Amino acid sequence: YTAEHQPEGNSGGWQGQSRSRDVARTGQGGGEGNVCGIVGYVGKRDAAPVLIEGLHRLEYRGYDSAGLAVMHRGRLRVTKTAGRVQDLRDKLSGQTAKSTIGIGHTRWATHGEPNETNAHPHTDTAARVAIVHNGIIENAEQLRDQLQASGVRLVTDTDTEALAHMIAAELAEREDVTLEDAVIRTLHRVEGAYGLVVLDIKNPDQLVVARNGSPIVLGLGENEMFVASDVSALVRYTRQVIYLEDGEIATITASAYHTKTLTGTDNSDNKTPTTVDADAGDYELGEYSDYMRKEIHEQPDALRRALRGRLDDRFATARLGGINLDARQLRNIKNVKFLGCGSAYYAGQMGAALVEELARIPADAEPASEFRYRSPVVDPDTLYVAVSQSGETIDTLMAVQELKRKGGQVIGAVNVVGSAIGRECGHGIFLHAGPEVAVASTKALTNMAVNFALLALLLGRVRDMSAANGQRVVNGLRNLPEQVSRMLNAEDDIATIAHQYAAADHMFFIGRVRGWPVAREGAQKLKEISYVHAEAYQAGELKHGPLALIAREMPSVVIIPSDDLVAKNLSTIEQIKARGGPVIALTSTDIPEGLADATIRVPRAEPELEPILLNVPLQILAYHAAAKLGRDIDKPRNLAKSVTVE
Ligand code: G6P
Repeated sequence: YTAEHQPEGNSGGWQGQSRSRDVARTGQGGGEGNVCGIVGYVGKRDAAPVLIEGLHRLEYRGYDSAGLAVMHRGRLRVTKTAGRVQDLRDKLSGQTAKSTIGIGHTRWATHGEPNETNAHPHTDTAARVAIVHNGIIENAEQLRDQLQASGVRLVTDTDTEALAHMIAAELAEREDVTLEDAVIRTLHRVEGAYGLVVLDIKNPDQLVVARNGSPIVLGLGENEMFVASDVSALVRYTRQVIYLEDGEIATITASAYHTKTLTGTDNSDNKTPTTVDADAGDYELGEYSDYMRKEIHEQPDALRRALRGRLDDRFATARLGGINLDARQLRNIKNVKFLGCGSAYYAGQMGAALVEELARIPADAEPASEFRYRSPVVDPDTLYVAVSQSGETIDTLMAVQELKRKGGQVIGAVNVVGSAIGRECGHGIFLHAGPEVAVASTKALTNMAVNFALLALLLGRVRDMSAANGQRVVNGLRNLPEQVSRMLNAEDDIATIAHQYAAADHMFFIGRVRGWPVAREGAQKLKEISYVHAEAYQAGELKHGPLALIAREMPSVVIIPSDDLVAKNLSTIEQIKARGGPVIALTSTDIPEGLADATIRVPRAEPELEPILLNVPLQILAYHAAAKLGRDIDKPRNLAKSVTVE
């Protein structure tokens, strides 16, 4: 399939094809799950530096330990660390041994301890086979017991180690068995989710790669091949990639690849390489010291990309060809429900408000993680929108599968072409934010919200929204990139405020109606990167409990859009001030001088679009609070960018 992205306009298709499958079974079962980055290389260069470079790119995915295995003079050389990729690089710095084949891994443990032993790659006892693995093997405990019963000594707590022993045993059984066959036989005994790469010293020119529920992509070079769990690790070397599907296995050598299904059907012919819609520059920090700040500053461009080709002045509407619904189908939608996790859920809340306001269709948002577990009533007249930057979040993917099982109508809103959610949905809205690396979402969230404004406009214009009203929204959308640029120019002022309040242990983010999702996302941003406890509250709910917490040590950010609730929001500020609580006002309107302790102003947008603008200063506020506190901004503790296991 091809990417939707077209330089001149992106009103065209969606990124994937519709197909159904039953995959990605992950569970709380046994084993040592991990969300992580995988890289592999076979070719002409020295493998270790290529692997390290790739791991650096993937570090945001998971980063409590890292390791690599290369082959040198017919033997495996495995290097691991319980630290960052940089520690691995340091460990390797003295080594001069060259190798042209290897695999690497960066890990974020979801179960079990993140120590050096448990770091990947894992090997069999004879150190013939090395494997890196992302996902969870559900029947790991049983497999480990069987291995132990047959006399194998297991040295780690991981599920992955079992795979290494099993593959080695398959290889040892018969002389003529290929590595691919050994992997296939092993995987037939495995239940769970995996993306994995296997290296065998007796097959020194090939890597075997398999996928079921965890992303794997092949990168095609000239007389060299790459493997990774994410294209970001590859774009420095090649933009020609092949996405493996669930249930597929590939064998790659420096000059060739072939793919087949785990059931044995050769399907290499169906695999056309995709050209990745990003280049290495998109992943470089350039003048920035971290990705989050870079991505905050990329928002005007990201917004322009999202709007390009999608604003229709002639009919005062939006063009979203990728959703594949004609006017009649759009009119038949009775409800809209957004499903996502974390920031994608808050973006969904913004989307629901936009749909209700512009299209007057009842709409709401729910965390995908809740939806999938609560046996939801699936309504055939509801349009479900699965929202995900990465397109890989397991809870969102499972919510989509639950919906499809029950006959629900679901479209995706994803940023990564070829991602699992994109392909599972088959149709949707491509976010066009460009690669987002920092764990904390900024430009992807902004693009989610603006794409939902387009969806709301489209839904509105096939209903009762007038052309004049539609044109007002079209114009308002067109102004957004420049308005965001202006806000970014105020970064220093917002940083001053952030520095002043960064010492707080707790903060409230208060909003009502349009300000409410903004408050939630603002609190999320602050807590995830600065570790300052932040809580969002609806302004009207303040007096029903949380007011008891207002004190001098508890600053509140109060969000005041230019709507008919300004007076109410001002009285919220007074309530807080009366109890001695410091207030930072975030507003697009004029508020009395001196009412708040600090004020952040944003340009006035069309009222429905204001949340998109109001959110940006809160990203900057969180960023500078975290910077002041010396946090590792791009890699907040305990978090990962792409949560592909439970
Ligand atoms: C993780 C990240 C969040 C993100 C969420 C959803 O929890 O740390 O920043 O909002 O996943 O990710 P998605 O890729 O589905 O948008």
